[in-house]
Amino acid sequence: MNIEIQPISERIGLKITSVDNANILKLDLESIINLFKSYGVLLFRGFATNTEIFKEFSNLLSTDFIDYAGGAFARRVINGDKTLLSVNDYQFEIKLHGEMYYQKTIPLMVWFFCAHPASEAGETTVCDGRQFFNEVSSSTKKLFSQKKLKFTISMSKEDWQRKYQTEDLSKLEEICRNNYTHLKVNADKSIIIEYICPAIIPSSCGKYQVFINSLLPTKQLNPKILNFDDDSEIPDDVIAELNEVAERITTNIVWQKGDILMIDNTRVLHGRRAFADEKRDIYIRLCAPAFSA
Ligand SMILES: [Fe+2]
Repeated sequence: MNIEIQPISERIGLKITSVDNANILKLDLESIINLFKSYGVLLFRGFATNTEIFKEFSNLLSTDFIDYAGGAFARRVINGDKTLLSVNDYQFEIKLHGEMYYQKTIPLMVWFFCAHPASEAGETTVCDGRQFFNEVSSSTKKLFSQKKLKFTISMSKEDWQRKYQTEDLSKLEEICRNNYTHLKVNADKSIIIEYICPAIIPSSCGKYQVFINSLLPTKQLNPKILNFDDDSEIPDDVIAELNEVAERITTNIVWQKGDILMIDNTRVLHGRRAFADEKRDIYIRLCAPAFSA
């Protein structure tokens, strides 16, 4: 197998390119696991891939695939498989975030597959959460060490039933309990949920601090639902600083058809540049590594 290995950018990740359109299922899994543990993001390019091969390859390295119940966006199920989803159907920019960091149960790993790249723009963005933490000012670090993030979301009965993929209130109560989410049910069965989490978490090895959360896209798309846990507002200048850092240290993944991207969702943030091409088609799978961290 003729393989070239190089950084995705000077900041992050590793690109593993097959020069001769090799079978990705023949890659040595031990080596992939070791590279993934060191780099946190791997981009596979030039291999013979399609949707089925993407599923097979991700199945070899992952477990506990989830179906996105409770997720913030509408996603299409691909080929009738609830663990293979489109990215959301919007075309605007999505700022850097950890996937599903607005609830306790997060996928530890995220896969992307490029079924069809946008003719221009629409890059997926990635950024190392440890580097993000290092770049943030000491006053902002201090603020986030003192105050946690609080998401407060009101939903009509129809909204929560669609979002959590159930009509059963006791099932919703169980989902909320498992996610350390406070649930208030109103007389008309509409609900208010509240979830509190830190913006900065320790790395899995415990040696580093990682800035990873859902702060930036929430403030971008739905600013009213996010405050600090003491109900004070996150200051505009802090959000401006975080957006400046994000833009400065983001790496763009310029998609090619058939690319596969493997992301450690405990330490690497991702997002997306805006695009206009309606043919852009990127799939995701949310899961956990099938190996020890
Ligand atoms: Fe995402």
